[in-house]
Amino acid sequence: MACEAPIGVFDSGVGGLSVLGEIRRQLPQESLLYVADSGHVPYGEKSREYILARCRAVAAFLLEQQAKALVIACNTATVAAIAELREQYPLLPIVGLEPAIKPAAALTRCGVIGVLATTGTLASARYALLRDQFAGNAHVIAQACPGLVECVERGELHSASTRALLKRYVQPLLEGGCDTVVLGCTHYPFLRELLAELLPPEVQLTDSGAAVARQLERRLVAGELCARGPARPARFWSSGDPAALKPLLPLLWGEAAEVTALAR
Ligand code: DGL
Repeated sequence: MACEAPIGVFDSGVGGLSVLGEIRRQLPQESLLYVADSGHVPYGEKSREYILARCRAVAAFLLEQQAKALVIACNTATVAAIAELREQYPLLPIVGLEPAIKPAAALTRCGVIGVLATTGTLASARYALLRDQFAGNAHVIAQACPGLVECVERGELHSASTRALLKRYVQPLLEGGCDTVVLGCTHYPFLRELLAELLPPEVQLTDSGAAVARQLERRLVAGELCARGPARPARFWSSGDPAALKPLLPLLWGEAAEVTALAR
């Protein structure tokens, strides 16, 4: 496999752009492909079988584009599909992401951690395992956030309705006295500014984006797959309306780019 081949990254929509940004920061020599499965967003309220079928379709597409590694930039898709994708492609480096409970357990001083994630992530056996393994003695307050992903998909990072919804979701965390909040969905890091307004300053936020980029680098090094660069410009596809994603790229990715329709 050519080291200069790209890395394929995908999410149910624009959330994975928060992870793509970390990959670009840490691995600037790598060429990146990104699929927003926006025709099927949100994953968080859909069945495991549905998400698995979508992940298989998107992974097959990225491999047709010669991806040398895959990043499932979505907590919900990781818990639903990473085991099956690794079984299907045993030689391919596949990196997924899970709510950052372990770092949160190390950060909390009061021993109470809040987790914001999708309904699907919180209902999964993988999440329960993660919490039981890594939360240690901390008390975990988990809050599902239906509707929040759609706010980010619309690019509404500061609107009154996004603020009202987020306020409702952080309320139980505040009442429970948490001092650390896990952003357990890749859409939520785009709401950090709003969260900073809604949470007391001593509350710390954690997400998994940077850790995923580090893990990806380890996998590339182990497989002798690191690119020398220079990277080619990132390429974007959407299974939804490409015209809806295109204006969001400067906001969420920091650069304008063309978006191609993904018809599958
Ligand atoms: N961004 C995704 C995650 O990390 C999923 C959002 C969704 O489609 O519900 O969980």
